[in-house]
Amino acid sequence: MPKLFKKIKEIRSFLKELKCNGSNLSVGFVPTMGYLHKGHMELIKLSKLQNEITVVSIYVNPLQFGAGEDYERYPRDLERDLAMCEEAGVDVVFAPEDQEMYPELPKVKIDIPGLTDRLEGAYRPGHFNGVAIVVLKLLHIVQPDRAYFGEKDYQQLKVVERLVKDLSLPVEIVPVPTVREEDGLACSSRNVYLSPEERQSASAIYKSFLLAQKLFQSGNTDANLLKEAIKDFLLKHPHVRKIDYVEITDEELNPVEEVKEGDRILVALYVGNTRLIDNWRLSHE
Ligand code: PAJ
Repeated sequence: MPKLFKKIKEIRSFLKELKCNGSNLSVGFVPTMGYLHKGHMELIKLSKLQNEITVVSIYVNPLQFGAGEDYERYPRDLERDLAMCEEAGVDVVFAPEDQEMYPELPKVKIDIPGLTDRLEGAYRPGHFNGVAIVVLKLLHIVQPDRAYFGEKDYQQLKVVERLVKDLSLPVEIVPVPTVREEDGLACSSRNVYLSPEERQSASAIYKSFLLAQKLFQSGNTDANLLKEAIKDFLLKHPHVRKIDYVEITDEELNPVEEVKEGDRILVALYVGNTRLIDNWRLSHE
């Protein structure tokens, strides 16, 4: 069983001892909100490969949910997560309560203009402020050598990379490619909200990426043309209710008009009442 900690002080002194007893073990860290799936497990697998100790945090961070979002009903099952962590060989799990993480509401607010206010940030105001605070706190608690983030949440990855760069945090951020189900739907804890019919429609997101990729490969480089083709395709599917955005950007999330290899398609939409996000790197291959 992984060693389970709920208190900051306790995990800190445990990890400090590990690092200070002369063995200088490298620590890999995988922050999660739990209800683990194949995507999380890929991050854990890579951390296990690259580090001697792997720490996983399981914490549904209230600060990154807006009013009317799914904070209360977000799936939680610590027993199941612990069993999956054990199976994967995780050494340490940090699963704090709200009171431990936020005895008071933080007053510090982290904004990265042009990054935290766009795309997801525009549709979920305050979301990335909450993500930034919790990730910074967790990185300070665990003090890992490497931390693992999925490309599934591409904008989140860019926010974290920028935080680490601007604040000179002593950690290497390791991006991990998106893990998908057999029909192409990106693995997500939120997929459990989907009815079987909605679940079927949700695979249209992946199919729309393949369509755009095909258009790009046959010489279409007009971003608007690709975006319209994606939207038209998505809206043909039952239960695809509302598209928040379909955007094409360069690697650093700046919008582009002419598409080139390496640019990203980013999509956020509702399937039934479930909001899903996904993204895709355009390539010639
Ligand atoms: P959560 O959604 O649980 O995701 C935890 C990590 O797993 C994130 O880095 C996310 O990008 C990655 N991940 C999720 N689905 C993935 C998939 N299908 N393939 C690859 N990686 C995937 O993201 C969060 O939690 C939170 O915002 C957090 C960073 C923990 C801060 O609260």
